[in-house]
Amino acid sequence: MHIAIVNGPNLNLLGVREPSIYGTESFDSYFLKLSALYPQIVLAHHQSNIEGELVNIIQDIAVKVNGIILNAAAYTHTSIAIRDCLAMVHCPIIEVHLSNIYAREDFRCKNLLADKCKGSICGLGLKGYELALQYLISL
Ligand code: DQA
Repeated sequence: MHIAIVNGPNLNLLGVREPSIYGTESFDSYFLKLSALYPQIVLAHHQSNIEGELVNIIQDIAVKVNGIILNAAAYTHTSIAIRDCLAMVHCPIIEVHLSNIYAREDFRCKNLLADKCKGSICGLGLKGYELALQYLISL
């Protein structure tokens, strides 16, 4: 089973970026642990700070993987391009946000991607990625 995690802008700085909101662990460190916990899964991680690159990544992997775990970060609230891209994807997509976007600024309550995903997990920190992975494995 092939699963891809796709992370959007600023998530490359997880661990040092606003740690009171996003925690102190880097994604690379978490990804190593997650991969070790699920050796039966071919788990890939992609990250970009650039909207069009995220579209390219999703277009490319969508036909190769069994599921996508997506944290589009700030583009969640703004990107019609990523929304249109998700609309073409046939494999299940689980949206993850580390923070509870509904308990923060009003602009984070606008979500252009959620209805193009099978489901969403938000506010549970890095654990959300593992929960999304467990769900995809269960399918
Ligand atoms: C985020 C929430 C977004 O609103 C924000 O722009 C991010 C991270 C999260 O994981 O909580 O960059 O997607």
